[in-house]
Amino acid sequence: MSADISRRKFLERSALGAASALFPIAMVNVVFGKKKGGEATKSKGTREKSDFTFAYISDAHIQQISGNKFVRNWDQGLKRAVAEANLLVPKPDFVMFGGDLGQLGKKVELDHGAEIMSACKYKTRYVMGEHDYYLDMGAYWEKLFGSHYYSFDHKGVHFVVLNSVLTYDSWNNKWPSAEERMNQMAGLDNPNGTPFMVGEAQRSWLKKDLAKVGRDTPVIVLSHSPIQKIYKGWNFWTEDAEQVQALLKPFSKVNVIYGHVHQIQYNQIGNISFNSVMATSWPWPYPQTYALVKSNLPVLTVPMNRADPFFERDATGWQFIDVNSGKVAATYLLPDNENRTVKYSNKTGRPEDVKYQDKRTAAQEHY
Ligand SMILES: [Fe+2]
Ligand SMILES: [Fe+2]
Repeated sequence: MSADISRRKFLERSALGAASALFPIAMVNVVFGKKKGGEATKSKGTREKSDFTFAYISDAHIQQISGNKFVRNWDQGLKRAVAEANLLVPKPDFVMFGGDLGQLGKKVELDHGAEIMSACKYKTRYVMGEHDYYLDMGAYWEKLFGSHYYSFDHKGVHFVVLNSVLTYDSWNNKWPSAEERMNQMAGLDNPNGTPFMVGEAQRSWLKKDLAKVGRDTPVIVLSHSPIQKIYKGWNFWTEDAEQVQALLKPFSKVNVIYGHVHQIQYNQIGNISFNSVMATSWPWPYPQTYALVKSNLPVLTVPMNRADPFFERDATGWQFIDVNSGKVAATYLLPDNENRTVKYSNKTGRPEDVKYQDKRTAAQEHY
């Protein structure tokens, strides 16, 4: 969350604000005009012309039951996020959808999701998720939303959108049908799964794309999977993460924002800050196995404390990401739980929970 828009101010300025429940949406604040020491050059309460926010909605997983019946909870999550985006003050310059619009990549699911998203008043751009991709290798998604990967510039920031959910042709071609391939990919902890990757073709495109960008230009990468290696068992993982990170290394400020994990994650690797955005559909718990495998994430502050399967909106909520410093700085507003602020600490060299870092809560038991 930025210095100029505190949570309270944000909520005061929001038309829904204090009167309503919390909604699953992320706001990303891009603030320019900082002096040395982080002080804004502008007077309090005003925004520089070049400052802007964009909103981020992710992982709706619109799922057909039969005919025109869809899973209601997932529909409602997305509808609420769109309604909230339309009421945001300040108005976001645009809205990103972070992937997994559908559950099984069906045309009816993508159509239904696109119809709900069409109520959004702002320009909307899309990121490809594996649930959108593996039925027809993204063909129908492309018809609806355009290229699988692309870049654009906005008010001095270079944005890159990647399709990070590609995998080996040998895996793609081994299934008897497209439906079977999609079903195999749709299982989170499926041992028949395969790692995601950005792939060579897209990496060489990215290299060319970044060659025209000044080293001091802030770069924001929007992907579905994390572009870091977190937990392979659940595909919270991008196989060629290091190669992509190497292409981003020359830039002074890089933020990677991703969906897919349906949980709070933040990390800082050198010049790159990472933030996940929460899902509008359901939460994934933090796997116990995080403790057993090599993880590049900072120690999670409250593992398994938040994901309550009996509360449909838990692990969804508001989050505010400030990308100004190029270091992790985010505030989370969580329904039915304590809000959290996470900031990069120069002392420890990692992002930390400002209140709860040293006061870990016991893990919630799951049955
Ligand atoms: Fe998802
Ligand atoms: Fe996903």
